[in-house]
Amino acid sequence: MRTYRSTLGPRPHAVAQVEPDPKRAARLDKLIQRFVHRPTALHGRAPGAVDLMGLLGAVHDMYGCLTRPMVEHLAHVCELYTGQVYATASFYPDIYLDPKGRHLVKVCTGTACHVKGADRLARRCARALGVEPGGTDADGEFTFLTTACVGACSLAPVLMVGTDIHGNPDPATLPDLFARHRESDATAAG
Ligand code: FES
Repeated sequence: MRTYRSTLGPRPHAVAQVEPDPKRAARLDKLIQRFVHRPTALHGRAPGAVDLMGLLGAVHDMYGCLTRPMVEHLAHVCELYTGQVYATASFYPDIYLDPKGRHLVKVCTGTACHVKGADRLARRCARALGVEPGGTDADGEFTFLTTACVGACSLAPVLMVGTDIHGNPDPATLPDLFARHRESDATAAG
């Protein structure tokens, strides 16, 4: 993993610029400090070094995406160029630069899945969700994407909902499957 070196150490910053909720702002602030202040003795890194990939991954996990204001904020805090942070974030297809729905629905379009009918599965999913690939439904519940091979070729064609993998799902069960995920969200919130 590449480590970038900031020249002057972390700068004072206003985390509230990107996170108005004080509790979440404190969490974000703490998270950032974890990746900017690496003790030299423990990690063999100079003070002020930034584990940029670690930081981007952790912030992405927290928010589900890295918006432009967040990229600018992280660049500011780490004393890196915004373009440097953006280039790193945008290199990885699993780092999203715009907000997504609460559940990610992905149809694999790798070779094995393509041969086994990924296109047909994608059309059925689009119909069940009411969303075309790349889109998010109106209530922000589901984002529907296609993806490269997810490493479960023997189950082709593969559908992922969040981290769950469904091999060759029966198209008739898709509406129920998505409804269950929607309900699990509601249960967690309630
Ligand atoms: S091609 Fe779809 S899981 Fe490998």
